Amino acid sequence: MPTPDISPARAADSVKDRISRFLPADVGVILGTGLGGFAQAVLQDTCKLAYRQIDGLPASTVHSHEGALIAGTLHGRRVLVLSGRFHLYEGYTPAEVVCGVRMLGLLGVQRLILTNAAGALNPQFDAGGLMLVTDHINHTAVSPLAGPNEDAWGPRFPDMSRVYDPDLAALALEAAAKQGLRLERGVYAQVPGPQLETPAETRMLRLMGADAVGMSTVMEAIAATHMGLDMLAISCLTNKNLPDCMQETTLEDVVAVAEQSGNALAR
Ligand code: HPA
Repeated sequence: MPTPDISPARAADSVKDRISRFLPADVGVILGTGLGGFAQAVLQDTCKLAYRQIDGLPASTVHSHEGALIAGTLHGRRVLVLSGRFHLYEGYTPAEVVCGVRMLGLLGVQRLILTNAAGALNPQFDAGGLMLVTDHINHTAVSPLAGPNEDAWGPRFPDMSRVYDPDLAALALEAAAKQGLRLERGVYAQVPGPQLETPAETRMLRLMGADAVGMSTVMEAIAATHMGLDMLAISCLTNKNLPDCMQETTLEDVVAVAEQSGNALAR
């Protein structure tokens, strides 16, 4: 059960007046590890609220994540960015992990862009590349929807046959082609972390049909689908995981590669 002070409704109420000129927002964006530069790079007219200034949200604890809601405009669209997210490996419950996404949903965001840093499992993908998430595997054994259903947010048994919106995916592929950027397509698997995968786990995830693996995004995608949001998700492939020649992966490498790909992602 989530801690009583964590509440998406209170969080939405807490920020509403402070970001009223950006409401209703057109798009929500969640930035993953090393991708915090996006908001500064492309948003205009920004207003920033640290998570600790938002009643009802957990305080983000990961150093590679900033922990702020940044409202701004991009080509005339009102955008709400969550720079930094909450992870299962920090000890947050699944419901706490999705508190920020639900806050965006309650603020009226209808389109959501999720980004993350991930390890490539598909041997044809390279570290430093970008992958459009076409589907996901929840390999955490938990769900943010467990417990009493909030009927006002969505149905008890939400359909997951089309989590990632094909029209947004087509737009992203078109935008990437225009920019001359390679954008792979594949299935993302979320593991709980914080430990990285063994060679045997890597082999298993690949056999299960995953093209990339990371420690985020799926919890949020489930909560956003529950609320009926249209979603686009893009992974920055920060390392390559091949079970027969595993290379050591460090957080420093992940952050450094994500920071490099962040520029391509922003475009
Ligand atoms: N595994 C899990 N999470 C990750 C990885 C990985 O290889 N790379 C970046 N996030």
